[in-house]
Amino acid sequence: MTTDVNSPRKWDADYEHKTDGWDLGGPTPVFKRLISSRQLIPGRMIVLCAGRGHDAREFARHGFQVTAVDFSSQAVQEMHRLASPEASMEILQHDIFALPDAFNHAFDYVLQYTCFCAIDPKRRAEYAELVTRLLKPSGIYIDLVFPLDGRKGGPPFAVSASEILDLFQARGFKLISREKPAESVSPRRHAEELFLFQKSSPG
Ligand SMILES: C[S@@+](CC[C@H](N)C(=O)[O-])C[C@H]1O[C@@H](n2cnc3c(N)ncnc32)[C@H](O)[C@@H]1O
Repeated sequence: MTTDVNSPRKWDADYEHKTDGWDLGGPTPVFKRLISSRQLIPGRMIVLCAGRGHDAREFARHGFQVTAVDFSSQAVQEMHRLASPEASMEILQHDIFALPDAFNHAFDYVLQYTCFCAIDPKRRAEYAELVTRLLKPSGIYIDLVFPLDGRKGGPPFAVSASEILDLFQARGFKLISREKPAESVSPRRHAEELFLFQKSSPG
């Protein structure tokens, strides 16, 4: 069995063997609040490393036009199994780093949760380039960052707030808001932070 996080086989094995403790079994509470606050106008959204798609379906159910991407065939099967007509969305089995050019500047929103910490840490600049190319000008990056606890090893690989700010501000993103969500599930409380960034607009 491979442990290479760049390989879908590693993640397939986690789903098969139920070593998928990251799965909350439903939408992430802070995203539910974000949706009900109506701060975000429904638009086209891509959810990276969507897993079983709980968050993707929640946004789709509230009028967002969602593309949910994961390269694990097990995750994608689960998204199809859990699909519901009131939360219709596009489900794509694809490596996020090889998404087609047709997706360039196509999305109003990019959303990640437990994706950035799952990829090979050496690929973080490549990941920031990916988010930049997917978003339309003025598009919003919804980034729920975990784990902020400086742990060794991974996945999940540790993340720091300063690293996130550096990666995205260096690419012209403006920080709109940041907060440590009160409703984080208990093992993750104080170890995650929600950042909303806006991509720059030309001119
Ligand atoms: C820790 S899980 C999180 C899943 C989901 N975000 C959640 O919170 O339940 C990481 C997911 O990222 C997917 N993944 C990792 N690297 C990927 C890549 N390069 N392209 C697409 N999916 C990837 C894995 O297959 C796995 O489903």
